[in-house]
Amino acid sequence: MSLAHITITKPDDWHVHLRDGEMLKAVLPYTARRFARAMVMPNLKPPVVTTAQAKVYRDEILSALPKGMSFEPLMAAYLTDDIDPCDLERGFNDKVFAAAKLYPVHATTNSESGVTQIKSMRLVFEKMQRIGMPLLIHGEMGDPSIDIFDRESAFVDRVLVGLRRDYPALKIVLEHITTRQAADYVADEGRGGKLAATITAHHLLINRNSMLAGGMKPHNYCLPVAKREVHRQALIRAAVSGGGMFFLGTDSAPHPRTAKECACGCAGIFTACNALEIYAQVFSEAGALDQLERFTSLNGPAFYGLSANKDKITLERGQDCISSDLASVIVGQQEIIPFKSPINLFWRVVDQ
Ligand code: NCD
Ligand code: ZN
Repeated sequence: MSLAHITITKPDDWHVHLRDGEMLKAVLPYTARRFARAMVMPNLKPPVVTTAQAKVYRDEILSALPKGMSFEPLMAAYLTDDIDPCDLERGFNDKVFAAAKLYPVHATTNSESGVTQIKSMRLVFEKMQRIGMPLLIHGEMGDPSIDIFDRESAFVDRVLVGLRRDYPALKIVLEHITTRQAADYVADEGRGGKLAATITAHHLLINRNSMLAGGMKPHNYCLPVAKREVHRQALIRAAVSGGGMFFLGTDSAPHPRTAKECACGCAGIFTACNALEIYAQVFSEAGALDQLERFTSLNGPAFYGLSANKDKITLERGQDCISSDLASVIVGQQEIIPFKSPINLFWRVVDQ
C-alpha cells in the first residue's frame, strides 16, 4: 500500500562512475532506470582524455544499455597536465564533451594522471571560460601532508577562492561536497550562477563514525571521506534549501568486493541502486519533499544550460522497508556490494 507518492520531472545524475566492460553492463541499468542523463566520470584506466576516447566510451555505454531503456550519457574530459586545449574545445563544440573534470593528482581513485600544478592550467581554464565549458572539480588537496579530514576545506580556501577570482565567468561545479565550509561557500558564492555543488546520497546519511566506530566499514569508505555529524547536517540543509546551486550527483562508484575488503581498500560507494530512494527519504524526513524536484531534476539542467527532462518519474512511500537486504550485483566472478542505508528506506521508484 502506498502511503504517499510524488511525481517529479525525471532526474539526472550529475556525477556517476559507470566504469567499462562487464562492470559497465552490470551497473548501467540501475542508473538508466532512475536517471534520464548522467555526467559520466572519466577516471577509467586509461582515463578519457581526448574527444576520440570519449566517443568510443560513449558508444560503449550506449551499446551496454538494455533494450527498451533510454539514457543519455554526458561525457566529461579528464584534465591532465598536457591536455590538448584545442581538442577539448573541438570536443565541446561537437557536443562530445559536456564538461571537463579536474582531479588534483593523487586525490582519489585513478587520479594518477591528474593535474600536478593547478596554476599551470591557465590556458585551459581561460579557454573553458571563453567557450562556456563547465569545470568539474574533485575539491581536495592531493598533498599528503594535509589531514584527510581537512583536504576539502583546505581546497576551498587555498584553491577554489583563487579560481573564482581569476576566472569569474568560468562555470565550476565542486563535486560531492562533504563539509559545512564547502556548503556555505557555494551557497554564498553560487548566487551568481557560476558556482554550484553536487551532493551525494550517502553523505546525507553517514558521518565519519559510520566508517570508523564499532569496526572499520570499508563499504562506507569513499573520497572525500565522510566528516563529522555537523557537516552532514549542513549538507542536508544545503540540499533541501532549494538553492539552485545545489543538485544531485550520486558519485556512485562501484568496486569489486575484494578491492574494498582488503589491506588497502579502495574508495568508492555503489549507490546507483538506492540513491534516488535515499534522497526522497531524506527530503521527506526533513519535511522538504516540495524541494525534491528542484534538487534532483531542475537545478542541474538550469546550471548546465540544458532543458529539464520531459519524462516524469513517480516515487512512493510504502509500508514496507525496501532497504534491508539489497542483493549484490554480480560481475563475472566478482560482486559489488550496494551501499547499505543506515536508515530504513520506505520510498521506492514506481515502475513506469
Ligand atoms: C571514485 C571512484 O571510485 O572512481 N571514488 C570515490 O570514493 N568517490 C572517485 C571519486 O569520485 O573520487
Ligand atoms: Zn566520483
